[in-house]
Amino acid sequence: MPSSSTLLRIDASIHATESVTREVADTFERHWCESRPEGQVVRRDVGLSPPPYLTELEHTAMFVPSEFRTPEQAAAQAEAAALADELFEADTVLICAPLYNLGIPAGLKTWMDRIYTDIRLFPGFGFTQPLAGRRCVVVSARGGAYGPGSRLDGWDYEQPFVRRHVVDILGMDLSEIFIDLTLAHINPKLAHLVDVAGQSRQAAHELAERLALEFADSDSEMDSDEGVA
Ligand SMILES: Cc1cc2nc3c(=O)[nH]c(=O)nc-3n(C[C@H](O)[C@H](O)[C@H](O)COP(=O)(O)O)c2cc1C
Repeated sequence: MPSSSTLLRIDASIHATESVTREVADTFERHWCESRPEGQVVRRDVGLSPPPYLTELEHTAMFVPSEFRTPEQAAAQAEAAALADELFEADTVLICAPLYNLGIPAGLKTWMDRIYTDIRLFPGFGFTQPLAGRRCVVVSARGGAYGPGSRLDGWDYEQPFVRRHVVDILGMDLSEIFIDLTLAHINPKLAHLVDVAGQSRQAAHELAERLALEFADSDSEMDSDEGVA
C-alpha cells in the first residue's frame, strides 16, 4: 500500500459537460481533497480519451518472458504497466461508470482489457486480489430506474460486472453510489418521476461527501494507532 494519500480518479462518461457521474465524483473529490491537504489526485479519462481496443499482439505479449519480447511486445507491456502503476500507487480509486446500453462504457472496458495484461494483476494467472486493502468508490448513473421492484430490476449488468472485478478479482473495498432516473427531465414516460430523480441525485451527493469524510476519519484513526504524527 502507498504510504501517502493518492486518489486515482477514472472518468468514463462520454460527456465532457453535464455529466452526472462527473458531477457526483466532483463532490467526492472535493471533500477528499479538503480533508487531505497533503493528498494528490491522479486522473485518467477513459470517456473523453478512450484507450484503443486491445490487439492480439498487446494481449499475447504478457505470455512472453521479458528477455524474448520483440520491441513491439516490450512497448505494449510498458504501456500496460504504466496504467497498472496508477492503480498500485493509489490507496483510493474513484470510478465514474455511467450505465451505457445496460453495461459499462466501452472506454472503461478497453482500459480494463489493457490493465489486465499486466501480470501483477494476475500473478500465476490466478485471482489473488492484488489490490486488497484499497478502497474503490464507483459512481453509476442510469437514465432509468433499476432498483428492487422496478420494471427493469435485474437489467443492469454493470453492477454485477463491476462487483465481480473490483471485489472478487482485485480484492478492493467497494463503495457504490447510484443515481437513478437521470433522464426523467427529458423522457416524457418518466416525467412523473422528476422529483424522485432529484432526490436520487441529492442523496448521491450526500453519500459522496459522507464517504470522503468517513475515509478521512478512519485514516486519521489508523495513523494515530500507528503513532504517525
Ligand atoms: C450510449 C448511451 C447508452 C445509454 N444506455 C442506457 C441504458 O441502457 N439504460 C439507462 O438507464 N440509461 C442509459 N443511458 C443514459 C445514461 O445512463 C444517463 O444519461 C447517465 O446519466 C449518464 O451518465 P453521465 O451523465 O455521467 O454520462 C445511456 C446513455 C448513453 C450516452
